[in-house]
Amino acid sequence: MKIAVIGGTGLIGSQVVRILNASGHEAAPQSPSTGLDLLTGQGVPEALEGAEVVVNLTNSPTFDDASPAFFQATMDNLLTAAKAAGVGHAVILSILGADQVPSLVYYRAKVLQEDILKAGLVPYSIVRATQFFEFMDLVLSETADENTVRLPATLIQPIASADVAQEVADVSAGTPLRGTRNIAGPDVFTVDELGRVTLAAHSDHRTVVTDNSAGMFAAASGDALIAKDDAAIAKTTYREWLAR
Ligand SMILES: NC(=O)c1ccc[n+]([C@@H]2O[C@H](COP(=O)([O-])OP(=O)(O)OC[C@H]3O[C@@H](n4cnc5c(N)ncnc54)[C@H](OP(=O)(O)O)[C@@H]3O)[C@@H](O)[C@H]2O)c1
Repeated sequence: MKIAVIGGTGLIGSQVVRILNASGHEAAPQSPSTGLDLLTGQGVPEALEGAEVVVNLTNSPTFDDASPAFFQATMDNLLTAAKAAGVGHAVILSILGADQVPSLVYYRAKVLQEDILKAGLVPYSIVRATQFFEFMDLVLSETADENTVRLPATLIQPIASADVAQEVADVSAGTPLRGTRNIAGPDVFTVDELGRVTLAAHSDHRTVVTDNSAGMFAAASGDALIAKDDAAIAKTTYREWLAR
């Protein structure tokens, strides 16, 4: 199948392109660095010409109040161009439990992205993944100083980006789900515990201080970000991934 992967140069997108091409599909990466801008629509009709599937793995440049407008405009442009090109399947990657954390504007923006796709006329699939292992260094740096890292005891079930990419590729090559596939990593941690494991693996001697008001995950509570019974559980553990 010819599959357009918008955001195909990013962390997930580049791996999805590789997996799809290795399994015999014709997957082309599309992004501003290849001349396509989903925000303005530039290059989108050309990228979707002859494509049976479009996978949207773009990300907003910021996680702040500008993110809803980014996902609104990019999804409007995507669906208009996909409909015009007769694309039969549109896929996005969202965040497991995003609807459970309405106080985070970026998570609200991802729910908006899902709602626009569901309300559109193009058969669709949504993959919802938990937080990527690769995202953890950024989480730590957000509330770190020279001696300490402040992190909340929020439950989290992170996943390797490679496992997410495999799931996105499988869903993209399949029949539209007209629904959501959830995927999570194998282990549940608290964010502060995950911070301690990460610092130890990096031989970083700073101390993790549990602070339930620190960082973006302070906004989530209970089991909001944890897999429920319907989720697929990926194989790679965080400790295996850190040891690579
Ligand atoms: N981080 C997490 O833990 C997590 C968890 C679940 C779901 N997700 C979702 O996963 C998705 C992919 O994340 P990622 O980490 O792979 O993102 P990423 O590495 O930041 O890559 C973003 C991609 O989007 C492209 N892009 C940016 N602006 C664009 C525009 N205006 N038009 C077209 N393409 C544009 C970038 O192109 P250039 O390379 O040319 O700039 C890049 O290819 C995101 O939607 C995110 O919400 C993330």
